[in-house]
Amino acid sequence: MSRQLKLLIIAGARPNFMKVAPLIKCIQARNGKGEHDGVRLAFRLVHTGQHYDEKMSNVFFGELGIPSPDINLGIGSGSHAVQTANVMARFEPVCEQERPDWVVVVGDVNSTMACTLVCAKMGIKVAHVEAGLRSFDRTMPEEVNRIVTDALADLLLTPSADANENLKREGIPDEKIRLVGNIMIDTLVENLDKARRRDILKTLGLGEKAFVYVTLHRPSNVDRKENLGEIMAELIRLSRQMPVVFPMHPRTGKMLSEFRISVSESAGLKILDPIGYHDSLCLTEQACFVLTDSGGLQEETTYFRTPCLTLRPNTERPITISVGSNRLTSLKTLRRDIADTVGNTKRAGEVPPLWDGRTAGRIVNSLLERD
Ligand code: UD1
Repeated sequence: MSRQLKLLIIAGARPNFMKVAPLIKCIQARNGKGEHDGVRLAFRLVHTGQHYDEKMSNVFFGELGIPSPDINLGIGSGSHAVQTANVMARFEPVCEQERPDWVVVVGDVNSTMACTLVCAKMGIKVAHVEAGLRSFDRTMPEEVNRIVTDALADLLLTPSADANENLKREGIPDEKIRLVGNIMIDTLVENLDKARRRDILKTLGLGEKAFVYVTLHRPSNVDRKENLGEIMAELIRLSRQMPVVFPMHPRTGKMLSEFRISVSESAGLKILDPIGYHDSLCLTEQACFVLTDSGGLQEETTYFRTPCLTLRPNTERPITISVGSNRLTSLKTLRRDIADTVGNTKRAGEVPPLWDGRTAGRIVNSLLERD
């Protein structure tokens, strides 16, 4: 007789949507084939509402074919404590009602940690996708989220071998850890044809490999007036040499207007609203180089072997530097690093093991094995 394994899958903020999409597809395909091996996987999708704008959330559901959330906690923006507390208060009754066998959380945003905390107290098992990444920088809110989530989760699904080492160093037993690969790359591979058919280059008047793609939203870069001012001045300077495309995260836009920093000084600097996944992938593949502080873009540039400058003092994804085409930069070295990168854009690096588009299948198998 077949048994049902009930999952609650959590998504809250923009970078989560690309991570839950392949998992949901994989579960649906398995159920569709009627191959149950005695276990039927049932899932419900919970959107915490941490991101709520059309361009930060809805657009990804359409583009990536994610079903509408079964439950929306509608928490919205707030300080870290408020956001975390609101997710916890609204998620607890959902767990009480649903009584899942597993809660699946992804990445390192506040919603990920908040849902994990709720489950740990209720004795509900948590699987963490993208476990084990460490920047060793606790001034980053995400690092705190990663440490707490990994300490409490029951199944730690890692993207690369360095993540396994980090977890072992923290005393997490081997049997909780599975190296499954990078789920973001499943989404990338699945969507590559659609991304290549986008006409964003034509619309913006950009040539292949003849523009820079910029995304910046980390508090360390955008929440201080001097830093953000310096960054924008550098981008304006760069845009006189080569077009710069900068789809702007709402946090960055908000800080620019709060600090009254003017950005209209160069025709080559194209500031856009947040863009969708396919346009972003298209720009990442075709850019001369990418300047970013995003975790996801460090990985996507690694896959495309597009040179990437990461404006951060550290990265929780060191494999993108050791095998990939990523390099750290700082406000002090930015001008020189940009000059080096513009002058040498030979595609270098390689794709790490298990960044192969088949991670979701390995995650599902791990859940079934551990049940
Ligand atoms: C969050 C994640 C970060 C991730 C980023 C991707 C945490 C701690 N941070 O940061 O890891 O890289 O998402 O986007 O979880 N806002 C809107 N519309 C929205 C959502 C937010 O305008 O749909 C604005 C609000 O003014 C809000 C600000 O953006 O205060 C920041 O949003 P928040 O979710 O707190 O953090 P992010 O900077 O987006």
